[in-house]
Amino acid sequence: MSTPPKSFHVKSFGCQMNVYDGERMAELMTAQGMTVATDAAEADLVVLNTCHIRERATEKVYSDIGRLRREDGSRPMIAVAGCVAQAEGAEIARRAKVDVVVGPQAYHNLPSLVAEAGSGQLAIDTDMPPESKFGALAPRRRSGPTAFLTVQEGCDKFCTYCVVPYTRGAEVSRPWAALMDEARALVDAGAREITLLGQNVNAWTGEDEAGRTQGLDGLIRALDRLPGLARIRYTTSHPNDMTQGLIDAHGDVEKLMPYLHLPVQSGSDRVLKAMNRSHTRDGYLRLLDRVRAVRPDIALSGDFIVGFPGETDAEFADTLRLVDAVGYAQAFSFKYSPRPGTPAADYAGPVPADVMDDRLQQLQAALLRDQQAFNAAAVGRATQVLIERRGKLPGQMLGKSPWLQSVHLITDARIGDLVEVDLVAAGPVSLSGRERVAAAA
Ligand code: 5AD
Ligand code: SF4
Repeated sequence: MSTPPKSFHVKSFGCQMNVYDGERMAELMTAQGMTVATDAAEADLVVLNTCHIRERATEKVYSDIGRLRREDGSRPMIAVAGCVAQAEGAEIARRAKVDVVVGPQAYHNLPSLVAEAGSGQLAIDTDMPPESKFGALAPRRRSGPTAFLTVQEGCDKFCTYCVVPYTRGAEVSRPWAALMDEARALVDAGAREITLLGQNVNAWTGEDEAGRTQGLDGLIRALDRLPGLARIRYTTSHPNDMTQGLIDAHGDVEKLMPYLHLPVQSGSDRVLKAMNRSHTRDGYLRLLDRVRAVRPDIALSGDFIVGFPGETDAEFADTLRLVDAVGYAQAFSFKYSPRPGTPAADYAGPVPADVMDDRLQQLQAALLRDQQAFNAAAVGRATQVLIERRGKLPGQMLGKSPWLQSVHLITDARIGDLVEVDLVAAGPVSLSGRERVAAAA
């Protein structure tokens, strides 16, 4: 059909896992000699790395595809990747003009799919091979100060509203040695902080060099010993996989940051059961008590769904009460939306849209209040900020506190430096810091 694409642009939607996948796809194409186009309008190849969690996900993909058409009627080569490709790739290829459809477990084949599509035919790969794609990916050569490292993929939990077990497949842990190698490569390439990623990251399990079975805490302890690495984070966790070992790591692993994203979804036991969450409200709260016992300052984060089918006012009030009891530092909240093929899509008792809107507003107001309180309580603390990028003002740099708050400060420090700061003021979404000047000897 056409000359092979010389430049590409990856547009990633959704979770951090997609960001990671997007980076790895970009590395693959760079290795093929293609260059990065900062703007989709200038790229020969555009990869839409889609997310199936977002509302009306598939329609949005069609409109994204439509927007790639250019004024002269031409369009770039289009590859649809990610979870929508996995779930509905064949349908998309039937309805829209796309060249490549590639699922999240098959994107190591992207270069050959692009070559196949170059001959004019649609190239589809949505296989979920038992062997991992990771073995087929090249070592990491470039990294900013913060990097993602996918350690685990997939989910066996089958929450009744969720597509992930269908789009990402069963829980698979990457092997220890591959992860340690990738972590070392990331640090050599400039990473000071690594966030371990997985749909159920705390279900990670593997064998260390000595053949001992390890959980995520074992992996974190090994990464703690990596010279040059300053910070370790992980996300997203399931309450039921929160082992005592992992909790203990929050108490004594210095590089493990005091932040835990632990979705609860609802504060009502009836709704949790209907969601097949396999934990109760009380079990969740007791778990958080155990985490706070070893790390009292930990920043807690969560995910919530309002308006699950059948959710009553009283059940929603249970969620608000749970929020009050926890005091989240940060959280994500969503209106329930049915996903085709999931059990809840057929559940009775849809919650009317206006009720759903009202509940989301109430929940978000409560979460914002707690986020502001958490940030305000940090004022006066002396801490370290990892500098990630330049700010808008002269001399201003932006970075993150250990509790994942955005902090801006005036400093001569460079991107990737850890700076000692006093947190001096708090806004709703960020804090301002003042660099501590080392006392003269
Ligand atoms: N409707 C609304 N929110 C959902 N999530 C997952 N599936 C749905 C759905 N069908 C939310 C959950 C999950 C987060 C990643 O997205 O809160 O934790
Ligand atoms: Fe989806 Fe539940 Fe698995 Fe999270 S634990 S990915 S919400 S099925």
